[in-house]
Amino acid sequence: MSGTTGEARPLKSGGSLTGRVRVPGDKSISHRALLFGAIAEGETTIEGLLPAEDPISTAACLRAMGVNISPIKDGETISVQGVGLDGLQEPSEILDCGNSCTTMRLMLGLLAGREGRHFVLSGDASLRRRPMQRVGQPLSMLGAEVRGRGGGNFAPLAVAGRKLRGAIVGTPVASAQVKSALLLAALTADGSSTVIEPAHSRDHSERMLKAFGADLDVGGEMGRHITVRPGASLTGQHVVVPGDISSAAFWLVAGALVPGADLTVENVGLNPTRTGVLEVLQQMGAQIEVLNQHDVAGEPVGDLRIKHGPLQAFTFGEEIMPRLVDEVPILSVAACFCEGESRITGASELRVKETDRLAVMARQLKAMGADIDEHEDGLTIRGGRPLHGASLDSETDHRVAMSLAVAALLAEGDSTLMRSDAAAVSYPTFWDDLNRLHH
Ligand code: S3P
Repeated sequence: MSGTTGEARPLKSGGSLTGRVRVPGDKSISHRALLFGAIAEGETTIEGLLPAEDPISTAACLRAMGVNISPIKDGETISVQGVGLDGLQEPSEILDCGNSCTTMRLMLGLLAGREGRHFVLSGDASLRRRPMQRVGQPLSMLGAEVRGRGGGNFAPLAVAGRKLRGAIVGTPVASAQVKSALLLAALTADGSSTVIEPAHSRDHSERMLKAFGADLDVGGEMGRHITVRPGASLTGQHVVVPGDISSAAFWLVAGALVPGADLTVENVGLNPTRTGVLEVLQQMGAQIEVLNQHDVAGEPVGDLRIKHGPLQAFTFGEEIMPRLVDEVPILSVAACFCEGESRITGASELRVKETDRLAVMARQLKAMGADIDEHEDGLTIRGGRPLHGASLDSETDHRVAMSLAVAALLAEGDSTLMRSDAAAVSYPTFWDDLNRLHH
């Protein structure tokens, strides 16, 4: 489990941020490269894989089912020896997904169609509180059998592998994790399946499964209908993982807010299903330049330069939410430091992330003196008044830890942060990068 030990980390206020930073590999793409590589024929090599706790959980689960994966080390190309679509062995132990919901949900889809094989999945205290029915229920339309606590909603979960049938299935929420679980299950069904989302979520699975050779079509309004025809075998690929825009977001907001800041974040994935944070920063009047834009292995990538400048309050809601769902905590920090009232609505999904991120961000920022109202589906934040240093707590959530680090830089007076090691779930070198850029 992350972020549960250690002393409070001192966080100095003031100073500036300048320089260049290369954020670690995209978490969503890293999980998928490991999972798709595992069920492909032959070797997959992965450059730039995120060497953090979440992808390490995915690799550990796959190894427990007989997949050979080289040790995950920073800067090394990772090799996955694919076992083919039907080659995963029944594990002799519980599959431990740690803090990683992407691991658990995608694994449910991957395993549901393994006839006659039995799997048990669990994770840390946070993951055992996260809703799984949103995956188990649509998977049951294909004939899957997933059991768990609370009527199948909470881990530990048991998957009894079944022969699956093709079906047309709507997902209950715009969630790339749910969609991806269904696409993986559809690969092992006995006929074609179509997955329909209520709104378009990140599309890394569609792009990557196609690149691995799956027979998959994306259609409908805004790519919300995805059809998979089983039968095509996947072939090992060379995957190049771009930097994670969700990790870059901390530097983008810090660069926009910290007096005198001038930061360049290199090699950031700019897939349009992920760039909502750039749209909001532009709406706020932030000075962001996209440099050196090019395509790497089917994903747009570029460097982002951001300089400090005056910012305005912002409003965003349900429509943009799938494109910035992980960036709401850091945007709530941004709202505290710009003049006027900012409003975030349509964000009830935040309540079922690693923590209830609306409640946690409101609680922690209020401890610094922020003027915030918490609503069922969002936050209203009246910015422009100074925040003061405080004793803060990530409450075990990696994105909360890094968001509060940015708030602490901008506060008047120093802060401390309990459970700061939670950052290692998605950005193990965050504190080193902060020390290097801060002066
Ligand atoms: C992810 C999808 C998002 C996101 C998570 C990673 C993925 O979750 O919050 O960090 O890799 O598919 P939802 O699909 O539940 O919105």
